[in-house]
Amino acid sequence: MSEAAEGFRPPTDLRPDIPHPARIYDWLLGGKDNFPADREAGARIVAADPAMRVAARANRAFLQRAVRHAAAEQGVDQFLDIGTGIPAAGNTHQIAQGVNPQARVMYVDNDPIVLTHARALMAGPGHGETRVLQADLREPKRILGDPDVRALLDFDRPVALLLVAILHFIADEDDPFGIVAELMAALAPGSLLVLSHGTADFISAEVERRVTSVYERSPRNSATGRSHSTVSRFFDGLELLPPGLVTAPFWHPEEPTAPEDARLPLYAAVARKP
Ligand SMILES: C[S@@+](CC[C@H](N)C(=O)[O-])C[C@H]1O[C@@H](n2cnc3c(N)ncnc32)[C@H](O)[C@@H]1O
Repeated sequence: MSEAAEGFRPPTDLRPDIPHPARIYDWLLGGKDNFPADREAGARIVAADPAMRVAARANRAFLQRAVRHAAAEQGVDQFLDIGTGIPAAGNTHQIAQGVNPQARVMYVDNDPIVLTHARALMAGPGHGETRVLQADLREPKRILGDPDVRALLDFDRPVALLLVAILHFIADEDDPFGIVAELMAALAPGSLLVLSHGTADFISAEVERRVTSVYERSPRNSATGRSHSTVSRFFDGLELLPPGLVTAPFWHPEEPTAPEDARLPLYAAVARKP
């Protein structure tokens, strides 16, 4: 564990022996908040498809560009970031409040380790407009009705809903499209949906099986890559902002893109509620 986690008392359900998506992702990003089981799972993913490590970094960079775009170009000052992840460089509140110090950020994740780190990061002066909730995306009513969420975010004004690299952990039987529609229905016109999603469009069925099998041991999680046309359905009834649904490096790139970026296993887009 990192120095930041010193004095950290693991919750009972931390289960270091089982790989967790948040800790695998932390390892893929080069972080230190992971256990041997997570590192072994991450190594299996990268062995199956080396582009997954590139995709993790591209995802993080997309998150940051999209939050900056929402705050600076769209004037949104409220953020609901579900599937927060273990804090890493350039977290949502740092990007948003870097543009607008008044920006309010509600973090939501179902992994207790994420919450412990996030609370430690938020503690102290200067983070009064950032809060953390432990909840599951599969319970949208609970998230929308939570008193802390309601106290922090004004649902009569636009909110940017961030579902970045989380929806591929929601299986079809848990109705991911219904969940996104329910969350967006609760938000005011002008609200944004910032979304990225893993895809198997560019890999063989065998590589897909090897990647998704890694998540089968994770608690409460499976992984489902979805096609471009299936991911597009998350934006039904919304206005996709240019350039639309693209592989992550092509969403408002700030650095030159490479030809192989067009086949990175991660789609990304931002859409606006009319
Ligand atoms: C790959 S990380 C993405 C982190 C961050 N959004 C980013 O893009 O940098 C996925 C996060 O979603 C969380 N997660 C997965 N399934 C979830 C669920 N059903 N409800 C809430 N959080 C979930 C994991 O704990 C993890 O922190």
